[in-house]
Amino acid sequence: MNAVNETKTAISNRVESSFDLFNLPDAYYEDPTPFFRDLRDNDPMHWNSDGSLLLTRYEDIKTVWRDLSGLVSREEAYTKKFGQGPLLEHHTTSMLFRDPPDHDRLRDIVNPFFTQSSIERLRTTVQDIVAGLLDEMASKDEVEFVAEFASRIPIQLICNIFGVPQEDGPLIRDLGAQVLVPLNPAVSQEAIAAGHEATRKFKEYLLVHINTWRALPAEDVPTNIISALVAAERRGDAISENEMVHICILVLNGGHETTTNLLGLSTLALLRNPDQFALLAGDPAIVGPGVEECLRFVTPLQLQGRRTTREVVIPSGVIPPNTEVIIAQASANRDDRIFIDPDKLDLARRPNPHLAFGAGIHVCLGRPLARLEAGVALPELARRFPKMTLAGQPVFNRNTRFRSLQSMRVKLY
Ligand code: HEM
Repeated sequence: MNAVNETKTAISNRVESSFDLFNLPDAYYEDPTPFFRDLRDNDPMHWNSDGSLLLTRYEDIKTVWRDLSGLVSREEAYTKKFGQGPLLEHHTTSMLFRDPPDHDRLRDIVNPFFTQSSIERLRTTVQDIVAGLLDEMASKDEVEFVAEFASRIPIQLICNIFGVPQEDGPLIRDLGAQVLVPLNPAVSQEAIAAGHEATRKFKEYLLVHINTWRALPAEDVPTNIISALVAAERRGDAISENEMVHICILVLNGGHETTTNLLGLSTLALLRNPDQFALLAGDPAIVGPGVEECLRFVTPLQLQGRRTTREVVIPSGVIPPNTEVIIAQASANRDDRIFIDPDKLDLARRPNPHLAFGAGIHVCLGRPLARLEAGVALPELARRFPKMTLAGQPVFNRNTRFRSLQSMRVKLY
């Protein structure tokens, strides 16, 4: 028996979980933790009904992320799922779904905007945005936290980095959500159609800005991402107009969706652990490790995908070639084989080798920005509203890939 068949036999001898990624119960959206714990303990290589493999253990996921770093192209799977059109074009052209050398060529153009030192220059801007929002909230007893705080910081910042008007924030959020929803494992035909249409409108919107920069004299040092892409085109770098547009959609979406969810879900976790919320208000030294712990605990981007082109050996077994692999980093970050007391929010946790930003060549480009936003916003919130509490139950979106709050009402005093 070869290694692949041995692994499949070994797995079939285990008690397979009835977990169905394509038909999840309501309880999963409230809290996926018990589902992932069961999979990690009893069925760490779980074969989904569509033939894909779901991995939930930390060491398996880390191995796949590093080993298959350069194997993200989804051309075949996404053509089947989305059909031809702008949505397919986006999810096969942006660098997230490109392998080297194309991935590296595209990432190099936008990378200078996301280095630690470039992002650090935005600290005062972030502080001003946060202070302004907290001032606005201070006159009310109760607020809708996602709409009035969590979603507003990332979108303002990403519009700033792109040099597009702040008033376009709601449009960008709306189009972005429709482009991202179809990445979920189970998705309706209506959502796919909406995704195609939103991508088409997004392209149209971005081309107006790209053409504005094209018509202006060359900048010595590009001041925003769109002008940097235009500068690369002028220099004769290998970049097509489609690649320019899709890199913008990817970074715009990355820039607000996950960070909004980090701010909302972290605040929820802190309000459920008031001792930790108080710590954040009083101790500046806790902010660095505290943000890492929030990232681990809530893991805003919960699932990723890879496709094997060869046999891949992981600690739990062997993955056959040509397998669609779904990585559940949300589960890896709660694996008690790595983290002591993983379901406890412990802002002082060290070490904290979480996988919230991924690993390998696609490791999150915007991680310094997400860390800066959370590192400014969460402690300021705890200082300004130390008595903040939940007002009713939060409502979660039915989104498996991007764990997110639809709404969360909070009392401020
Ligand atoms: C808490 C916030 C965030 C989380 C949890 C997060 C998570 C991730 C993860 C897990 C990946 C790897 C995907 C993979 O390997 O398939 C990734 C990639 C990426 N992220 Fe983030 N992200 C966050 C914030 C941001 C921000 C603020 C931006 C941009 C402003 C951004 C832009 C990107 C881009 C462009 C990639 C693709 C990188 C590549 O393919 O080389 N992300 N992110």
